[in-house]
Amino acid sequence: MVSLTRRQFCLAGAAISLLGGRAMAQPERSGVPLPDGSKAPALGQGSWHLAQGRHPAEEEENALRTGIALGMTLLDTAEMYGNGSAERLIGRVIAGQRDKVFLVSKVLPYHATTADGIRQACQASLARLGTHYLDLYLLHWRGGVSDLGVVVNTFESLRSEGRIRHWGVSNFDVGDMEDLFRVPGGNACATNQVLYNLTQKGIEGDLLPWCVQHKMPIMAYSPLGMTGGLLGNTTLRQVAARHQVGPAAVALAWTMRSGHVIPIPESGSPDHVKENALALSLRLTEQDVNELAQAF
Ligand SMILES: NC(=O)c1ccc[n+]([C@@H]2O[C@H](COP(=O)([O-])OP(=O)(O)OC[C@H]3O[C@@H](n4cnc5c(N)ncnc54)[C@H](OP(=O)(O)O)[C@@H]3O)[C@@H](O)[C@H]2O)c1
Repeated sequence: MVSLTRRQFCLAGAAISLLGGRAMAQPERSGVPLPDGSKAPALGQGSWHLAQGRHPAEEEENALRTGIALGMTLLDTAEMYGNGSAERLIGRVIAGQRDKVFLVSKVLPYHATTADGIRQACQASLARLGTHYLDLYLLHWRGGVSDLGVVVNTFESLRSEGRIRHWGVSNFDVGDMEDLFRVPGGNACATNQVLYNLTQKGIEGDLLPWCVQHKMPIMAYSPLGMTGGLLGNTTLRQVAARHQVGPAAVALAWTMRSGHVIPIPESGSPDHVKENALALSLRLTEQDVNELAQAF
């Protein structure tokens, strides 16, 4: 009989599930509920620094395709990233498989002060992505947007026209969320995308409980500490060794442990993406979480 390590087994399980088989190391997380009852994928892929020469373009496209095949089907991008080049790269990746992905893009605050500005930005993102709809459209940060009513009304119009399926915000603190919820229709917000990782846990004090109370998931950006810098931590490596995965999978599983957080790690490397995808089937124990709390 061939004996597989947990790591090999998880990858094999993901591959088998792609082929329609049932063997899995553990059930994959089936998705994170949005306030309207639909589900978003449990794990995504970011694109802030893609299409900017960090890796060959073909390798980055391959990385994203690998992630999609392994269940990391939420793709996060923004008009800002590489001035549209990240959206164009994602457009090439999703060509022929648009229905497999949950596509997220963002409008810059200085395009979000008028309805026309938001509409034009959305149309330009759709054109670069080569699709006729976004699954989720976010206000990238509040910036100089004084009238959140314009944003909510325009997002709702885009939704009724079928150009976006959900809308949300990014980098909003609790005060911003309360302002948003005071706007008529503001409570239709599907998510808030914010910084969250083992070294940056500030949202646990207020924003995360606020969002849980309002049945709204958080999307965690920079879940690997931005440069992957936290991955060298000794305790993290010990926990990872115990589960026979890499430290990135543990860092991601840690952000996902409550079931209310969708991390969006970025990688232009297919090998790194394979390591990250293992988070989908990794469940941390109480001992793991306690050790990580001590270490970070
Ligand atoms: N809404 C906002 O304001 C906002 C702000 C920041 C980020 N974001 C979104 O969140 C995404 C992720 O955040 P981020 O890019 O700041 O940081 P991150 O995902 O925490 O880290 C990305 C870095 O980790 C490396 N990496 C990935 N997987 C790895 C692995 N298994 N082992 C070792 N290194 C690994 C990547 O390099 P390789 O490419 O070489 O793998 C890259 O340098 C962004 O792409 C963007 O979509 C949103």
